[in-house]
Amino acid sequence: MDSRIIVSLDFATASSAAGLVRQLGPAATFYKVGLQLLTAAGPSVVRELVDGGKRVFLDLKLLEIPSSVAAAVTAVGQIGASMVTVHASGGSAVLRSAVEAARHFPRLKVLALTVITSMDDEDLREVGVGSTVREQVLRLARLAVAAGCHGVVASPLEARMLRETLPSDTLIVTPGIQLAGDSKKGDHARFTTAAQAIGAGATHVVVGRPISRASNPADAFAALRAELSAAR
Ligand code: C5P
Repeated sequence: MDSRIIVSLDFATASSAAGLVRQLGPAATFYKVGLQLLTAAGPSVVRELVDGGKRVFLDLKLLEIPSSVAAAVTAVGQIGASMVTVHASGGSAVLRSAVEAARHFPRLKVLALTVITSMDDEDLREVGVGSTVREQVLRLARLAVAAGCHGVVASPLEARMLRETLPSDTLIVTPGIQLAGDSKKGDHARFTTAAQAIGAGATHVVVGRPISRASNPADAFAALRAELSAAR
């Protein structure tokens, strides 16, 4: 078991998600459910994972008025998820309301999403943000920690900067992972290996297609675990 690996269930149906969970078996303990699967399959998909002994990162990317965010976080806690995301760009009041709602669920961690990894400096300018992506990630991460968030989501390329800046108990969750030895993506601007992300200070990595689209997902997951245990 390696609870630093969060397997992303980016599927259109509950049965295909359940298929991957079955294939990975007891070795995989932590799953991410995002907007696609939640919308298509409903909250029972989360409850079934939790009932099956798995931890669930519910990636809701909330950005709403504080009372609505608090209500959504309460619903997340009630279905037993372990992590939920809130957009840090919502500001302190939104982040604090999420943290306050999560207090009733001691296992629930609030992660602040800094800048989504598809955005570059030019995209930020378009929405009126003059800072670079790195500056904005750091600003929002500091804001999130000050508001009481348990962690942040950022690209692996920002992990080291965040690890060196944020308190040592802050969770740093990074998507954008490619398997070691897989040069197919070759997109070093956005992807790193899991070992590199953890080495840079990430506490968890989110991995989707490199596992779900592998010809043998269980083998791909085992290779990822081996990569991380070697890097430890
Ligand atoms: O690329 P992969 O299939 O591993 O993505 C898994 C999850 O990570 C996606 O659901 C998406 O939310 C997130 N992701 C991201 N930034 C990337 C790649 C993936 O936020 N560059």
